[in-house]
Amino acid sequence: MARRSPLPRYTVPSLTPEVGSQVATILQDRLNALNDLALTLKHVHWNVVGPHFISVHEMIDPQVTVVREFADEVAERVATLGLSPKGTPGAIVEGRTWDDYSIDRADTIAHLGALDLVYQGVIGSHRKAAADTEEIDTVTNDLLVGQLGQLELFHWFIRAHLESASGSLITDDSTTEVQAADAGSTMSNESAGVEVNSN
Ligand SMILES: [Fe+2]
Repeated sequence: MARRSPLPRYTVPSLTPEVGSQVATILQDRLNALNDLALTLKHVHWNVVGPHFISVHEMIDPQVTVVREFADEVAERVATLGLSPKGTPGAIVEGRTWDDYSIDRADTIAHLGALDLVYQGVIGSHRKAAADTEEIDTVTNDLLVGQLGQLELFHWFIRAHLESASGSLITDDSTTEVQAADAGSTMSNESAGVEVNSN
């Protein structure tokens, strides 16, 4: 549960300090998620190996750039609401409700399988934040909805690597990053003609 923001000394015209605080609490959680996502994407950029390395390595960096811009937008909205955005590494770790990304050096499809789950988490929570601000602050709602379109596009870039010609995703049954990475590794081994140990 995100820590509730204090009441601001001022907030944007027409919102009460209580609503300003409520919106800032929602946005601080999104700031933690976006900062975490930008760092996680860079970690993947540095740790992918194997076939298709360069295409995945280079696909990730533009996503980092945009996600950092999104974090900046969200943080500045918190400041505009009269509160202090928390952007330190300690604030991310203290405020987040999810575990650290769990895959280090691994092949490209394994990382993409794990990133599928990462994006599912971020987008699901962004959707909820957009819904939770729809009635109380349309400006914040609009900001989050705008970001969702781009995040969902990036999610598709990831998922297109994990999709069969019939349209199913190899990560469909995965509930953890490790499971999704294993599903991805199995896919890449099979496509390379490597015999897969099912144990
Ligand atoms: Fe780089």
